[in-house]
Amino acid sequence: MSEPPTAQLLINFNALLDNPVFAGGFGLASLGAVLAFARRGAMSTAAMIRRRMLVNVEISRQDPAYPWVLAWLSEPRPQTSFLAKRLTRINKLSVTTTTSTTPNGPTRASFFLQPGYGRHIIKYKHAYIAVNREKQATAKTNTGEPHEVVELTTLYAHRHIFEDVFTEARALALQANEGKTVVYSVRNFDWVPLGDPRRKRPLGSVILDEGVKESIVNDAKDFLARRQWYVDRGIPYRRGYLLYGPPGSGKSSFIQALAGELDFSVAMINLSEIGVTDDKLAFLLTKLPERTIVLLEDADSAFVNRRRRDADGYGGGTVTFSGLLNALDGLSAGEERIAFLTTNHIELLDPALIRPGRVDMMVRIGEATKYQAAQMWDKFYGDVDLDGKNRERFLAKLEGLELFSDAKDGKPAPRTSTAAIQGLFLFNKNDMEGAISMAEGLIPPKLEG
Ligand SMILES: Nc1ncnc2c1ncn2[C@@H]1O[C@H](COP(=O)(O)OP(=O)(O)OP(=O)(O)O)[C@@H](O)[C@H]1O
Ligand SMILES: [Mg+2]
Repeated sequence: MSEPPTAQLLINFNALLDNPVFAGGFGLASLGAVLAFARRGAMSTAAMIRRRMLVNVEISRQDPAYPWVLAWLSEPRPQTSFLAKRLTRINKLSVTTTTSTTPNGPTRASFFLQPGYGRHIIKYKHAYIAVNREKQATAKTNTGEPHEVVELTTLYAHRHIFEDVFTEARALALQANEGKTVVYSVRNFDWVPLGDPRRKRPLGSVILDEGVKESIVNDAKDFLARRQWYVDRGIPYRRGYLLYGPPGSGKSSFIQALAGELDFSVAMINLSEIGVTDDKLAFLLTKLPERTIVLLEDADSAFVNRRRRDADGYGGGTVTFSGLLNALDGLSAGEERIAFLTTNHIELLDPALIRPGRVDMMVRIGEATKYQAAQMWDKFYGDVDLDGKNRERFLAKLEGLELFSDAKDGKPAPRTSTAAIQGLFLFNKNDMEGAISMAEGLIPPKLEG
């Protein structure tokens, strides 16, 4: 006989068809009925088994655990047993590529492989876990992207394994970001990490005028230590900072370094960007990642918009003044957060911004002072300028160029920025004489013809 053994086990088809009654229409119909019945029975048994004996967890893409679990799934798990090796081979992978800049090369691309869409089986500790990653084309999220879920299924008896999975996945995610600062930016209606997490920027690498850094750092640390104080008094646990001053004075750099110091991430949004509307800002603030400083760059653009709106009733594609206030302390502001606002044009801002909870601390980060120039010199040439003589020559030259003096007789002072000083030193690496002789380049170019 050549039939496969399984068919024989169920029904002997040949014997049935030899039977004259069965060979007729009635026979075929009842055979169909029998088979359908058997199938339905098998299906409901399977469903029952699934209900009774399996547990599953569904993780939606919107959940913070989603990327952790995907990363955890892509961890290598070498299997020794024959069966496990065959069952758990993942054939379908998807790749996420991130590029980053390295200290000694222009860019580095890292490829991060994760289970692709579809079903896989993994073995973790003693348990087999079925993984199903799928895009649900029907359900769209509010960003218009298809909804995505990962579903993990295991035997009911092994259900406690999920605790381990999530604990391990979270630990893995934290470990990957240790010593790093994650910077989120906006894509559609989502916060997405901007490239790989960056190495923490040491606070010492940002040189502000005497005492400025310390006052902000201490204030933020004090705030973080006082959570219970706010809770007890029913006050939203929020603090806002406004850093203002000319371009290239280290505002953004300082905020990044502060985030590293506090072990926070940064969620950055540029208010002057077209397409960042009031609604979008409000929505994004309701879903800030945990332990994140929200950084609202170019806060003045919201005020410019108010004027435009007053004039023609249309706010344009950017954030308005009321949108900004609402984001800072309206219903959408969330109960807990630290916000930093930056601007180059303090004169455009409205005093309404300076209220507790909106902006609690305003700090000018200004043009380079003598103190900062000296510190920056030490940072670049401290190891070769041992007696500091060249530093004094450099500072004297800058004083001679009146780069540290105040405006006088209505004539504005030709101040310079820390970014420009850094540029000069970078151009003259290991070359103190070069830096001194090229110091005239620090005088800002006159823009009025
Ligand atoms: N005070 C500073 N200490 C150390 N580095 C600085 C400082 N100021 C500027 N720099 C360097 O100059 C560059 C620009 O600085 P940054 O982006 O922080 O300026 P900013 O104040 O945010 O400017 P903008 O107002 O244009 O946004 C960075 O590479 C930064 O490292
Ligand atoms: Mg900046």
